Amino acid sequence: MVVETDFLVIGSGMAGLSCALKLARQGTVGVVTKKEKAESNTNYAQGGIAAVIDPADSFTKHVQDTLDAGDGLCHREAVELIVREGPGRVKELAEIGVDFTRKENGHLDLGREGGHHINRIVHVKDHTGRDVENALLEAVKNEPRITIYENHSAIDLITEHHLFTSLEATDQLHCWGAYVLDDQTARVKRFIARATILASGGCGQVYLHSTNPSIATGDGIAMAYRAGGRIANMEFMQFHPTSLYHSEANSFLISEAVRGFGGRLVTQDGQSFMEKYHPMASLAPRDIVARAIDTELKKSGAPCVFLDITHKNAEEIKNRFPHIYQNCLNYKIDITQEPIPVVPAAHYICGGVQTDLDAATSLSGLFACGEVTCTGVHGANRLASNSLLEAVVFGHLAAESAMRFVANQGRKSPAIPPWDDSGTFNSEEWVLLSHDRMEIKNIMWDYVGIVRSNLRLERALNRLRLIGQEVENFYRRTRVTTELIELRNLATVAMLIVRSALLRKESRGLHYTTDYPRRDDEHFQSDTVLEKQVI
Ligand code: FAD
Ligand code: SIN
Repeated sequence: MVVETDFLVIGSGMAGLSCALKLARQGTVGVVTKKEKAESNTNYAQGGIAAVIDPADSFTKHVQDTLDAGDGLCHREAVELIVREGPGRVKELAEIGVDFTRKENGHLDLGREGGHHINRIVHVKDHTGRDVENALLEAVKNEPRITIYENHSAIDLITEHHLFTSLEATDQLHCWGAYVLDDQTARVKRFIARATILASGGCGQVYLHSTNPSIATGDGIAMAYRAGGRIANMEFMQFHPTSLYHSEANSFLISEAVRGFGGRLVTQDGQSFMEKYHPMASLAPRDIVARAIDTELKKSGAPCVFLDITHKNAEEIKNRFPHIYQNCLNYKIDITQEPIPVVPAAHYICGGVQTDLDAATSLSGLFACGEVTCTGVHGANRLASNSLLEAVVFGHLAAESAMRFVANQGRKSPAIPPWDDSGTFNSEEWVLLSHDRMEIKNIMWDYVGIVRSNLRLERALNRLRLIGQEVENFYRRTRVTTELIELRNLATVAMLIVRSALLRKESRGLHYTTDYPRRDDEHFQSDTVLEKQVI
């Protein structure tokens, strides 16, 4: 089956939906999404969106906080762009119905998070992402030119590789859409478009413990890499300092906004420790706090540290953090009465598909926005709540660029061959899939975590090579399923992270290695770029 639209958007989180809404002004838009349409990292976002709203704040201050957190690797123009565009995009979200929390005087209630020197986080209590996602989906519902395809997993981008033409005559690869698995019918469809926008989010699931939901398997990054796209800065996986330490809680996030509200990190015996590590103490940038917790845990042998907010008024806590309060209560932890046990967990990938300031990738006809990208905004460590900001700003920019591209040069697609699954069969060896998936997650957690070393990275590389080959062989002879697509992509993304980490022989931001404990601007103040030679 073939689905043809002017624009194909892969992913229905904040980046994909905000982009789709703008694209619909110019043409038809197909949005494919792996599970139910709201299921995304966006849907779980708690803290909010960083934006310059307070008259005491300024673009310069927000830019500076972002650059400081990024530890010398942010692209200043990209940072200035998202900061400048932020307030306008937040206003648009309010216009489509996001009911941001306000103070009694009617002004937006601005929260504080790590690395910010001023309150600038626009939020809806502690469930900002859910409200933003719902508002975007409501707006999309009213847009007849947009069709959302749920339970549709993109397998691969369609490029010249899939055409029966010689690659030698090609100087730049072009993307014509994607092969997509319809989970319900188990058929692979061709989604063909004049421009494709990758908005498939991050890859937290590559680690054993992650705040990310199960969709976050790095599909877009792996697809773009296979297609010959440029991938940058994959060594910078951000570990959020405070996920709930509880065997059944699935690394439930305890928002940094809790620390912004006055919460203090303490050890098991109640000692506050962040003062030893950074002048901003519990509100230091995330890489520093996560590493400090790691150090404290290794020193004491304790399984977790604690986040204590009990000194604040109980009613105010419940009102500001209803979602966190209720969730913790479900695990029999009353956060108004007792400190919250917390540990770091994989949270956000700062690297991804490299784009320019127009959200264009290195493949013609392919644009990208949101967590799947490396736009230059985050450098070596993302500033809190700059991710939703980047997703909405680059969602807008990707739409503008894709519309311009289609108006000026969008070529009509050549004949795209149907998906070829000849020679494949339905495997009964599904246990191999789940085993390989767990093995990748364990390797990444044990050897490619907050503190790294050459020895650990080499060990990870050797094991991942083997798993990658096994998975690829299995993929070649097996009828495709979403589980298999995800496993193949997790294996690719894990390799990209390890290879990038091995290339960076210094410590900077989120990448800390005991073999090179210092930052080395002379040799490493640049992005780590990986590109598969495909032409
Ligand atoms: P996502 O929202 O993850 O959307 C990706 C979409 O792509 C999904 O619809 C998914 O199903 C789809 N998809 C993936 N693969 C495929 C495929 N192969 N085929 C089809 N569809 C596919 N950031 C902030 O700035 N502020 C916060 O307060 C904040 N809190 C967070 C809390 C949590 C618990 C988490 C996990 C993240 C948080 N973040 C926060 C980060 C932020 O939520 C994400 O970076 C951001 O939402 C990413 O948006 P996105 O649209 O790029 O990707
Ligand atoms: C949080 O609420 O702590 C998450 C914010 C973010 O990831 O930026």
